[in-house]
Amino acid sequence: MKKVTTSTLLEMKKLGEKITALTAYDASFAKMFDEQFVDLMLIGDSLGMVLKGDDDTTGVSVDHIAYHTACVRKGTIRAFVIADMPFMSYATTEQAFENAAKLMASGASMVKVEGGSWLAPTIEALVARGIPVCGHLGLTPQSVHVFGGFKVQGRENAEAQKILDAALELEKSGIQLLVLECVPSSVATLISETLTIPVIGIGAGPGTDGQILVMHDMFGISANYMPKFSKNYLEEHNDMRSAVSAYIEEVKNGSFPGPEHSFK
Ligand code: KIV
Repeated sequence: MKKVTTSTLLEMKKLGEKITALTAYDASFAKMFDEQFVDLMLIGDSLGMVLKGDDDTTGVSVDHIAYHTACVRKGTIRAFVIADMPFMSYATTEQAFENAAKLMASGASMVKVEGGSWLAPTIEALVARGIPVCGHLGLTPQSVHVFGGFKVQGRENAEAQKILDAALELEKSGIQLLVLECVPSSVATLISETLTIPVIGIGAGPGTDGQILVMHDMFGISANYMPKFSKNYLEEHNDMRSAVSAYIEEVKNGSFPGPEHSFK
């Protein structure tokens, strides 16, 4: 089976083939997702909420992500594996070197960082040393306390322009992938069309180059809360494999996310 690489993802964008992604935290689910041909798996710091039961992602450590990355790597043959850099693990470039190296050694093929232009020098330095980087803009959950809650970003023109400018700056710094979270569909579509690199959306409408969901949301098993932008695929399908396969099919054919899962 041919492994998914950054070149595969770029080619998919060029061909207009949607990229499918899910979070994964262990070998069993990783194996199931891989067998269903999920293109990309993220060991997200969402694990703080869906595994640890925290209210936000700020209590996640590099050791947590490293442990779960090693588990996911063992269950994965084909998919591209990305590890989240947790809160305060890349506040300085030196910290970023040390922690990104640890996550790559645990089995990641790329690391993801949240934030705008302040990250440009760190991204340049990581890429120069051989560490591929994914950016994350829009609602960046590690900044939830600055935002005053989990809120849609980029609804005002000036705010949307700021996100577009940051996306362009991060692309120039060397990111090879961008996650856009909870932004109006029109803003996400514009950013996806403007950037050369693939843009993966979550709560960003159907116009991005791919979609990612937190696996617990996609199965409808997240404790207490189901985000508007997610869909419970297990509700309509009898077993987990069919649910994953339906998610992949709906992303590939453009029927997910629909307007009911998107923001204006
Ligand atoms: O932590 C996570 O799971 C994420 C996704 C929501 C993109 O960053």
